[in-house]
Amino acid sequence: MEDIFAPEAKLWHHVESVIRREMDLFGYSEIRTPILEKTELFVRGVGNTTDIVKKEMYTFNDKGERSMTMRPEGTAGVVRAVVEHNLLQAALPVFKCFYIGPMYRYERPQKGRLRQFHQFGVECFGTDSPYIDAEVIQILYMILKNLGLSELNVKLNSIGCPECRPVFKEKAIEYFSGMKDKLCSECNERLTVNPLRIYDCKVPECKECSKDAPFMSDHLCKSCGDHFEKVKSVLSSINIPFTHDKSLVRGLDYYTKTAFEVTSKHLGAQDALGGGGRYDNLVSELGGPKAPSIGFGMGLERVMLAVKNQNIDLKISSGQDVYIIPFSNNESDYCFKLLTGLRAEGISSQMAVGEKKMGSHFKDAEKIGARFAVVVGENEIKSGCVAVKNLAAHEQANVDAAGLAEYIKNALKK
Ligand code: HAM
Repeated sequence: MEDIFAPEAKLWHHVESVIRREMDLFGYSEIRTPILEKTELFVRGVGNTTDIVKKEMYTFNDKGERSMTMRPEGTAGVVRAVVEHNLLQAALPVFKCFYIGPMYRYERPQKGRLRQFHQFGVECFGTDSPYIDAEVIQILYMILKNLGLSELNVKLNSIGCPECRPVFKEKAIEYFSGMKDKLCSECNERLTVNPLRIYDCKVPECKECSKDAPFMSDHLCKSCGDHFEKVKSVLSSINIPFTHDKSLVRGLDYYTKTAFEVTSKHLGAQDALGGGGRYDNLVSELGGPKAPSIGFGMGLERVMLAVKNQNIDLKISSGQDVYIIPFSNNESDYCFKLLTGLRAEGISSQMAVGEKKMGSHFKDAEKIGARFAVVVGENEIKSGCVAVKNLAAHEQANVDAAGLAEYIKNALKK
């Protein structure tokens, strides 16, 4: 779990503002749900055979002996809220929302993998239109592009539906049963409970086994096959580059049909910047109406890491406009009023506190990234004229205190 503070915090604000702008553009409104939910929600929603539910949740009994879990992901909580508040009925024909917030998974920490991490996620409820699949993938891709990220790989697959997947599962079980001794112990377990997960096992022997295995996307029913073809053609028509990755299966149980992930070449082993897919049955499984839906989650720490690894200069302005330095404590009252006046005019300003040598004050001004230092002594108060120093240009001017804000504004424009 990490602390986030300046200057890093500025980068977070920038990324969040790019996200919010895109969300306005695409018509998604913000939803904020609690971090704590009943454990049962994730067991039913995410699935009790998944790594998340089996090994990674922060779960505890509260004082009322209820089993509670700190959300490991955002979708289940959002679905709960949508059902609880009838949001879908109110927002016909579709309900589109997004969230930004912390998630918790007790995973083995490594670069790009934390126990508290932040996700930006979007969910669109109430339609199985392949245009929405394309739209959701487009959102993720556009945001990453707008942040300057390149060498992205959009991986796309279809993992079928309750009609075609069970039939395929039997085929996969039959195939992998013949090579049990080559599969890792975890995949041997997966073979009976969730054979599709064998396809994304990172163990080289398991990868070798799944190379010639039958793939879900070659055994889709007509409805899933048609849907997949349409999603691909819409993405091509809007120039979103993608690769069909037959072994992409995703680690959460609620997915149907479309599954996708966007990876970056600028990250290490944990290279997925975001991932998601369609979940046509989750809303009804959690007590809501029939509402085919789709969404994704994007890992903000991984996005920050990719921005840094790619040396992207986001031109984020930092530092203050003005640093006011009272010559001694006697001038502090006057300076504090001056400071208040500048801030009221929208000029970011700080005032030096505590008596110091002038040289140290100027060092502090540099430290906070001030563009101008304003020095006020007894004489300045008497004359009503303050000394303004442009710290980058090393120029000094005497400025009428009443016109200080105007002077700084003009100087900043230059
Ligand atoms: P997910 O693939 O588990 O999907 O997570 C989405 C993204 O969150 C990942 O691609 C990664 O960038 C980030 N992430 C996941 N775990 C960690 C971690 N331990 N440390 C840092 N970043 C991490 C979901 O969570 C689904 N709820 C997405 C979704 C929304 N599907 C439909 N709607």
